[in-house]
Amino acid sequence: MRIGLIGTGRIGSFHAGVLARHPEVASLVVTDMDPARAGQAAARTGATAVASAEAVLAAGVDAVVITSATAAHAELIGRAARAGLPAFCEKPIALDLAGTLGALREVERAGSVLQLGFMRRFDAGYAAARTAVRGGALGRLHTVRSATSDPAPPPAAYLPLSGGLFRDCLVHDFDILRWVTGREVTEVYATGSDAGPAMFREAGDVDTAAALLTLDDNTLATATATRCNGAGYDVRMELAGDRDQIAVGLDDRTPLTSAEPQGPPAPAEPWPGFLERFAPAYEAELDAFLGVVRGERANPCDGREALHALRVAEACERSRAERRPVRLTEIPGA
Ligand SMILES: NC(=O)c1ccc[n+]([C@@H]2O[C@H](COP(=O)([O-])OP(=O)(O)OC[C@H]3O[C@@H](n4cnc5c(N)ncnc54)[C@H](O)[C@@H]3O)[C@@H](O)[C@H]2O)c1
Repeated sequence: MRIGLIGTGRIGSFHAGVLARHPEVASLVVTDMDPARAGQAAARTGATAVASAEAVLAAGVDAVVITSATAAHAELIGRAARAGLPAFCEKPIALDLAGTLGALREVERAGSVLQLGFMRRFDAGYAAARTAVRGGALGRLHTVRSATSDPAPPPAAYLPLSGGLFRDCLVHDFDILRWVTGREVTEVYATGSDAGPAMFREAGDVDTAAALLTLDDNTLATATATRCNGAGYDVRMELAGDRDQIAVGLDDRTPLTSAEPQGPPAPAEPWPGFLERFAPAYEAELDAFLGVVRGERANPCDGREALHALRVAEACERSRAERRPVRLTEIPGA
């Protein structure tokens, strides 16, 4: 297969490496708004760098991987759909609901494939949690605690193009909450803090956020995120039922130190970031995408799935701004 990749920043250059090593990928064509970045990624992976997204779409590729800044996703999804090309796009689809719905309409009109990059669906721990919850091993689920803690803020230039902490970061927690539990969020109450580095206040964003989510069977969930977790990269989910409780992301690299004299030792090598923690999941999601392109497997995360997670993020932003609980019925879905 010949694959095109648009956007060779942090995640794009990582995905380019994964694709270049994949046995099904015969050639890779990459581009970036910053030609030097595209050139570096091409030199590292043996890909061909071209000058623009149009050049990628016109390069005879079988599919496109969109890893540009979020602000460009919707337009690039539309272009791939109009070119009749299957697309994998990093989350989220767009910075807002209107952009998301517009991109989905383009994909549905063209009848093309769009897979979204919610890689936690390919992580072994989350998959085991899904099996435990759905198989009844925990009994009646009553509480879920989901947390995403980045070790340090992204570059300041990333923030205005990111959509904010709920859409950019917590959207992963909202997607995986649905995927693990099989339940829909019906109401949210969310808040955020910009007490950390000034760049968050300047971008109108928050560095730390918390949301209380009610699911449609009245299970309660919390989702928290921060960009300022000095201990390391910590992505976890705890699920408690009336029979048992389990934790995803709790291992000897979890950046968490017990305060108890008899507690487990502090991690020798705490997870430094998402690329290390989720490397196998990123590989598995792209392998799945290539299977979807070949027509050999069903799409594991289509645009409508991604829309659900974004609607929860939108409800959280509204809740934070208006300081009140927001029901999901208030957020348009079509
Ligand atoms: N799934 C995950 O775990 C994960 C992790 C990180 C980032 N992401 C997502 O991936 C996307 C990129 O994030 P990043 O951290 O790599 O950001 P980044 O800023 O490092 O890279 C983005 C790149 O896109 C390029 N770009 C922007 N607009 C473009 C356009 N129209 N055409 C071509 N190139 C364009 C920029 O020049 C830059 O090199 C974001 O949507 C982000 O939400 C997902």
